[in-house]
Amino acid sequence: MNPIKHVAIIMDGNGRWGLKNKKSRNLGHEAGLRTVEKIIAETIKNKIKYLTLFAFSTENWRRPKKEINFLLSLLQKFLLSKINEFDKNEIKLKILGTKVFSNKLNSELKKAEAKTSNNKKLQVNLALNYGSKSELIYSIKKLKKKRLKISIKNLEDNLFTKNIPDPEILIRTGDTKRLSNFLLWQMAYTELFFEKKLWPDFNGKDYNRILREFKKIKRNFGKI
Ligand code: IPE
Ligand code: IPE
Ligand code: MG
Repeated sequence: MNPIKHVAIIMDGNGRWGLKNKKSRNLGHEAGLRTVEKIIAETIKNKIKYLTLFAFSTENWRRPKKEINFLLSLLQKFLLSKINEFDKNEIKLKILGTKVFSNKLNSELKKAEAKTSNNKKLQVNLALNYGSKSELIYSIKKLKKKRLKISIKNLEDNLFTKNIPDPEILIRTGDTKRLSNFLLWQMAYTELFFEKKLWPDFNGKDYNRILREFKKIKRNFGKI
């Protein structure tokens, strides 16, 4: 049976869910946060050590300002209200991406990372202002600056995901089959699961079904 250390999720479909059910994209983002809490709890139950959630991409800056502001303030509120609970549940929070937000949000993110940095039960990586292409460029630039050889090991040691094992599983909800600039290097051998359901409708049962399906896959890594 395949062990699972790391699950990565592209949480897509909030906007469509909001328009369909509440006549507002933003209310879909709010509903999406409830799914985040459910999936974190299921990840702990399944004894998986890393969960990476794609929350905001480098391309999402192209959205209307109003939606961006709503999303970021929602995130700020969520962090402020949940960080103590995360800490109590021994969850470590790590941000993947550069912190280019308001001073307030940047400092809340830093504080949340510092507060939870010694927790060992589950590491939740929140990909925020994350883009795989800029992450790779950033790593290569660091190698040049440190005069290090360009090798797989050195490159990986300078990604945001340093010391995090590659995800075995990617889940994308929202009925779209693309990677949208997410963990392109890290997912070279990841098993991909594309789900029809929109993120706010995705639940623990769907998640556990995917985990079971994954365990049955024969993973070759080039061998036979
Ligand atoms: C994913 O949901 C969340 C973010 C990108 C922040 P979307 O907002 O992309 O929802 P759809 O795909 O438009 O329905
Ligand atoms: C991917 O979703 C990014 C996040 C879930 C944060 P998008 O909805 O932004 O992706 P595209 O633009 O449809 O590919
Ligand atoms: Mg989308």
